[in-house]
Amino acid sequence: MYVCVCNAVTDADIRQAVDSGVRNLKQLRRNTGCSSTCGCCREQAREVLQEALAEKREASSLIPIMQTG
Ligand code: FES
Repeated sequence: MYVCVCNAVTDADIRQAVDSGVRNLKQLRRNTGCSSTCGCCREQAREVLQEALAEKREASSLIPIMQTG
């Protein structure tokens, strides 16, 4: 789904950016252009970013369990 129509940034693009090291909205804007034009998408971009970061934290906390199990 498109989060930022102005810059054609999707939720998948945001998740990929998080995988590449993006950790906040400013970095997301710099890396993808998301929220850099009209700004209408800022809140939705922030929500998707927070979800992606939470999923990444969850996934990384499972790795030690999976390695020992
Ligand atoms: S919709 Fe994202 S900057 Fe306009």
